[in-house]
Amino acid sequence: MDVLIAYHSDYGNTKKMADAIAAGMRVANPALSAKLQTAEVTSLNDLVAADVIVFGTPVHMGSMAWQLKQLIDRAGKLWMEGALEGKVAGVFATGGGFGGGGGGVETTMIALHSNFMEHGLITVGFPKSLPGYADGGLQWGPYGRSGNHEGMPGSVSEGALAAARSYGAHLAEVAAKLLD
Ligand SMILES: Cc1cc2nc3c(=O)[nH]c(=O)nc-3n(C[C@H](O)[C@H](O)[C@H](O)COP(=O)(O)O)c2cc1C
Repeated sequence: MDVLIAYHSDYGNTKKMADAIAAGMRVANPALSAKLQTAEVTSLNDLVAADVIVFGTPVHMGSMAWQLKQLIDRAGKLWMEGALEGKVAGVFATGGGFGGGGGGVETTMIALHSNFMEHGLITVGFPKSLPGYADGGLQWGPYGRSGNHEGMPGSVSEGALAAARSYGAHLAEVAAKLLD
């Protein structure tokens, strides 16, 4: 199973979540190959070659970072061809922290799911019964809050990273069933 995790990260928080998702996937399925890279270097061939595609982004002004949106818009060509249909997908995000995960974490993850659905992927949420959900879970996927209570930059919590690992394991298990 070939997994592609494409993300944007200016200050490293979203990358930490990407690493944690990959770690969780590898624990659940040591045989899978997980490629982590930024959205900017991700080619359309990378998307087509993957069995599982995961997109992650910081929230920027209430929605995804332009670097990921640019990849999504480049991939419009693949929608014409139906080239991503039937693949498995997942999403994650980090926010600065004013209110829960930050203003826009939920709408950002919903937008990512929506794009995957438009392409015909089978996009996977995060069931609340799974480990880590209480500290970094939303039904859409794992999220991290990187700001402190004053809104100053910090780091995503260990709880958020645990949620990301748990989601990664879930994603690998679901993908194994669907792609069998
Ligand atoms: C241009 C810009 C806009 C941002 N807008 C939001 C926002 O609307 N809501 C929010 O919660 N955090 C916002 N943030 C904070 C980032 O989402 C947050 O710090 C994130 O964890 C950074 O991820 P990174 O370390 O991977 O770059 C913004 C940060 C930047 C640089």
